[in-house]
Amino acid sequence: MKIFLDTAETDVVRKHFKTGLIDGLTTNPTLIRKSGRKHEDVYQEFKDIGLTDISMEVIGNAENMISEGKRLHKKFGKVATIKVPCTRDGLLACRELANNNIKVNVTLIFSVAQALLASKAGAAYVSPFVGRVDDNSFGGLCLVKDIADVYTKHILTTQVLAASLRNVRDAAKAFQYGANIVTMPPKVFEGMYNHILTDAGLKQFDIDYAESIAE
Ligand code: E4P
Repeated sequence: MKIFLDTAETDVVRKHFKTGLIDGLTTNPTLIRKSGRKHEDVYQEFKDIGLTDISMEVIGNAENMISEGKRLHKKFGKVATIKVPCTRDGLLACRELANNNIKVNVTLIFSVAQALLASKAGAAYVSPFVGRVDDNSFGGLCLVKDIADVYTKHILTTQVLAASLRNVRDAAKAFQYGANIVTMPPKVFEGMYNHILTDAGLKQFDIDYAESIAE
């Protein structure tokens, strides 16, 4: 069971990485754009922080994705997981990169059929987008479960990386439904620590502790 952060904000990642609870990181062009920085500067900083699994998204046709994926892998080494979309070109790139022992995360997965093709193309991870499925009125977590079930049934080694998580409940449920990895925005990760009854219980324990030593 692995927790990844889904962000390009290096300061926030630095803070959470210190907890020892973060196993990796996913980015995408939108998150990199929001950071206002160059993508390779962001990747380098994540690597310097100590992250050992960083999804780096490539774009264009198969040829572009392959050459860019190989270049990123050469520059960043084993920490680079190359992220390609679940398209014909994306899966051609996936096959070629996987044949070169480069880990690939196939992203923008919205069906079991796509997840099956990605696995056959040699993907290390598939990323079903839970939140975006929910936004379109069908079940994002059910998609995670369906993919995990079919992978188990056919003994496929591709890992299910649940993505596009918007809240703590869904992040936890994704694991329950069979995800191997869940990537989440830092806010959702922070929320995983919290429960209103923990706060209430702690408040009372603090009061009772202080009273008991005063008595
Ligand atoms: C995952 O790899 C994606 O970067 C991400 O989870 C997409 O999330 P969103 O649907 O909230 O943009």
